[in-house]
Amino acid sequence: MDANELGSELSKILVTEAELKARLAEMAREIEADYAGAEQPPLLVGVLKGAVMVMADLARELSFHAEMDWMAVSSYGASTKSSGVVRILKDLDTEIAHRDVLIVEDIIDSGLTLSWLKENLESRGANSVRICAMLRKPDAAKVEVDVAYVGFDIPTDFVVGYGLDYAERYRNLRDVGVLAEHVYADAG
Ligand code: IMP
Ligand code: MG
Repeated sequence: MDANELGSELSKILVTEAELKARLAEMAREIEADYAGAEQPPLLVGVLKGAVMVMADLARELSFHAEMDWMAVSSYGASTKSSGVVRILKDLDTEIAHRDVLIVEDIIDSGLTLSWLKENLESRGANSVRICAMLRKPDAAKVEVDVAYVGFDIPTDFVVGYGLDYAERYRNLRDVGVLAEHVYADAG
């Protein structure tokens, strides 16, 4: 889906598809360098559903065999505010004891989801747990999260596209855009 098909539903385009791709390539080079000495490549853990696009593009950009697994956690529902409540809806299929794990996320907002997830995976005996996030809202942080790889720091607006949704819509938008306020105001 292209932004021009959405009319006034976006107030602006924040990061274009081309910018996302270019930044992901840079991040992939960093990741390859950082894990170069490891015995086994890291397990990429994507957080459903938002990380699907980042995972698909990052994994293809990486030059090592990128093993993937997925978790689903709930924190949002259809609201635009973080609840801080994290629940595992789908757990990993992979045993991660002694593995290097790289969590792949779409966005860090309050940081509550990722700080919880990082601790959870560390408690399973992973050798290391690092985070790679395509977007980060530094001004929305409620907890400090150590993020090894960040695509773009963005303002504290509600954004959609490139995997990010509002009420399950806009995930397949190619770019990342700011959702116009009238869209969620209309929804109540
Ligand atoms: P956090 O726990 O507040 O960091 O929220 C993390 C999750 O909330 C992300 O993985 C997204 O799924 C969702 N989220 C946070 N900000 C946005 C946004 O601007 N648009 C869409 N989803 C968001
Ligand atoms: Mg998410």
